[in-house]
Amino acid sequence: MSNYHIKHFEEYYHIYRKSINNPEGFWEELAEEHFVWHKKWDNILSWNFETPEVKWFEGAKLNVAENCIDRHLRTRANKTAILFEPNDPNEPVQHITYQELYNRVCKMANVLKQQGIKKGDRVCIYLPMIPELAVSLLACARIGAIHSVVFAGFSSSALEARINDSSSKIVITSDKSYRGSKTINIKEIVDDALKKCDSVEKVLVVQRVDGQVEMQQGRDLWLQPLLDEAEADCPIEIMDAEDPLFILYTSGSTGKPKGMVHTSAGYMVYTAYTFKNIFQYKENDIFWCTADIGWITGHSYIVYGPLANGATTVLFEGVPSYPDFGRFWETIEKHKVSIFYTAPTAIRSLAKESLEYVEKYDLSSLKVLGSVGEPINEEAWHWYNDNIGKKHSPIVDTWWQTETGGILISPIPFVTPTKPTYATLPFIGVQPALMDDEGNELKGNQVDGKLCIKFPWPGIARTIWGDHERYKETYFSTYKGKYFTGDGAFRDEVGYYRITGRVDDVIIVSGHNLTTAPIEDAINEHPAVAESAIVGFEHNIKGNALYGFVMLKETGEYRNQDNLRKEINQQISDKIGPIAKLDKIQFVEGLPKTRSGKIMRRILRKIANNDLSNLGDTSTLLNPEIVDSIINDVL
Ligand code: PRX
Repeated sequence: MSNYHIKHFEEYYHIYRKSINNPEGFWEELAEEHFVWHKKWDNILSWNFETPEVKWFEGAKLNVAENCIDRHLRTRANKTAILFEPNDPNEPVQHITYQELYNRVCKMANVLKQQGIKKGDRVCIYLPMIPELAVSLLACARIGAIHSVVFAGFSSSALEARINDSSSKIVITSDKSYRGSKTINIKEIVDDALKKCDSVEKVLVVQRVDGQVEMQQGRDLWLQPLLDEAEADCPIEIMDAEDPLFILYTSGSTGKPKGMVHTSAGYMVYTAYTFKNIFQYKENDIFWCTADIGWITGHSYIVYGPLANGATTVLFEGVPSYPDFGRFWETIEKHKVSIFYTAPTAIRSLAKESLEYVEKYDLSSLKVLGSVGEPINEEAWHWYNDNIGKKHSPIVDTWWQTETGGILISPIPFVTPTKPTYATLPFIGVQPALMDDEGNELKGNQVDGKLCIKFPWPGIARTIWGDHERYKETYFSTYKGKYFTGDGAFRDEVGYYRITGRVDDVIIVSGHNLTTAPIEDAINEHPAVAESAIVGFEHNIKGNALYGFVMLKETGEYRNQDNLRKEINQQISDKIGPIAKLDKIQFVEGLPKTRSGKIMRRILRKIANNDLSNLGDTSTLLNPEIVDSIINDVL
């Protein structure tokens, strides 16, 4: 029993040892005691990080939605499961109880079934942060359909690529969405995407705004009338432990996004267990994770982890700056939020505003604060600690990835002493390794290396949808027999980990994971552009921002370069989404290249960061003279 809730440091240490010495025994006990199974497993774990293959609880039968809802009905039917805080603070909040959530999920599941969705079919969900989003995920889980949520800030071509890659049969969307003071016509984005998607048979449309959108006859259906007609009971589909629960796309180093596949039992056990401990969740807590469900953070810590524990989870439709910069703090006071989980970029953007926005509100309900998505800098850490946590709510700096399903390195509040900018210690069952450039594991402390994980944990993604080879290539071939995270890390004198940032072509902008290649592809499609290279540069709010070096086909052709900058950013917005826009665009006469023709991004990164002290040896470049001309024109 005690293994499920870690309460002090010796206990952490003891349970950690246990989970490493006997992982099978450890996870078996936990799974057995805390979840509902229709059949127990035949085998707890089989794995091979070279093939690679990972299976947890093989042979077990379960349903994740049943574990998140049905099993709570006996004791928590009238407890709020989802607390919906709308974009407009004057619009009434919704307290959706576990019983109501059950009814709504069953209705949605029945509608999906009526529309021909069966176990294993893919359902694309492109919705703003409204209750129907969480309900759709759980309805898919109930009937064994695989959900593929696409963040509703992505453009139509990004949506199209994800629908086609997963061959989704249905898209669930809304007419429009609210975002602060703006209204966005998201149905139009779906219509645009679907021009090139043959797999989609039906589009189910939630009316969130005014319903003033075009509906294509035979394809588009308003959801509400179907829900009104549907039964509020729907039997669960009994799933195998390793049946996919969902696909979630993350950016890849080629233009094609990677559809990470998470399966049922291991993901459920891992998100539930991390949620319970890393937030020290207790029955009457109000938990608020400000991420969008379109990202893994929202999947694991708005929906599955909290609901598997019978928690109350806040679903926030709005933005931190609307109607003013006090919105987060106002909402914490309003709902007496006890656990608050957000991203460094949000903290930095609010820290630059007047403290009056914070001081107006009573934040005494807060117990635990969380941070996720990118390294939290010291200044932001202290601002968060001093002004929001009032120095008595520990900050858990949680490091993890879309691929890992749940948090892997993090303090446990009131258990692990925190240290600013350190994600501290591996969670139970997690075995990190730091590697040097020759592929050797660095032993001991005070070492800096590439972060790998040596042993599977239940929440690891099992494959890339439709491309197992790419999964192997991306994560398991850099260091033989190890999962490579793509991050660098430092281990200090006591064994605490500090994540130092990406060591590959991923750039984390405002907590969003972007790769350079698809952005460069989008820029290069502009008729005036010959070639481009994107690098990250330090930005005081976003963490990193994007700097584009762009070479034009004919330099004289576009005299008004600001217009061209706008066009390039528009092109990126259309192809990927506004999150990938460049902060700076420098037009160059050429890009520094190696003799084999590879762009030397390392040099460009230094130039963009104004770090000209140590550019390294440029004499081996194909075109060394270009470096000086780029430095001369730097923005
Ligand atoms: O570089 C790390 C950074 O975000 C990457 C994963 O991004 P994504 O798959 O979008 O998932 C984000 C939410 C889990 C990581 O490889 N990252 C995430 N959390 C932290 C972090 N970097 C430093 N500290 C963190 N706490």
